[in-house]
Amino acid sequence: MAKLIGGLGTSHVPSIAAAIDKGLAGTDAWKPFFDGYVPAKEWIARAKPDIAVVIFNDHGNSFFLDRVPTFAVGCAEEYRPVDEGWGPRPIPPFEGAADFSWHLIDTLVDNRFDPMICQEIEVDHGLQVPMELFFGRPEAWPVRVVPIFVNVIQYPIPLPSRCYEMGRVLRQAIESWPGDERVVVIGTGGLSHQLQGSRAGFVNPEADRAFLKDIATDPDRLAAMSRERYVEMFGSEGAELMMWLVMRGAMDRDVVVRHTHYFVPASMTGAGMILMENAATAEAADPEAQAA
Ligand code: DHB
Ligand code: FE
Repeated sequence: MAKLIGGLGTSHVPSIAAAIDKGLAGTDAWKPFFDGYVPAKEWIARAKPDIAVVIFNDHGNSFFLDRVPTFAVGCAEEYRPVDEGWGPRPIPPFEGAADFSWHLIDTLVDNRFDPMICQEIEVDHGLQVPMELFFGRPEAWPVRVVPIFVNVIQYPIPLPSRCYEMGRVLRQAIESWPGDERVVVIGTGGLSHQLQGSRAGFVNPEADRAFLKDIATDPDRLAAMSRERYVEMFGSEGAELMMWLVMRGAMDRDVVVRHTHYFVPASMTGAGMILMENAATAEAADPEAQAA
């Protein structure tokens, strides 16, 4: 049985990667943002996961509007970072965990989720940026990755409750996997932002801060919310937040929040992160941790 060692949620704003590429991470404008990720990076370094399951949306780079799967799972040996138009980025390719990916796909189909199966696909900032935030800039990534793509762009997008249910199946796949890998699940996107239309530039820090609390303590409420409510509260692109529910659905009801951070705005976005462990296994590791 593989072990779920933690759940992470983070924004995946592309200008975060640009700030690292241009050496701006230590500047007055960016330092407070990056400082907020240090405890999570330290936790990762201690926890030493073997596999990162990353839930994100492609942004018209590998899928365009003419053909978009609602859910897709990568089962490749390697995922190259896609060039989004500014040239190749100085980051290594991502090694896949193809064996676990196939098991996840089997488990999803057994549970009436029928994802698109991607044996070859490139990954955009939705996966690149969270990996850089949590793993830094290594010569080679210290984990193998399993990308889960969720369509939050071309309507109709899936229900938040469906994302949450998918997380439960992901947990089942982790626990029924014969290997002993340590797995982290990373939900990405959000928080509030709208990049287009009459509400372009919209952010909602109050709703973002409430989300960062509720994702730990009241995920059922977030899963029960309609898609329209996500768009109203978080903006059209802020609806990406429903992908955090895949991560949360993979976790126990009771979690321990190790760290959370919020910074607004990063580019056009309320940028947030959370690091949680299941309370049942985390308490033993750290008796001082506070149950959510
Ligand atoms: C921005 C945020 C995103 O999540 C994204 O995918 C693209 C751009 C932004 O704030 O610039
Ligand atoms: Fe995005």
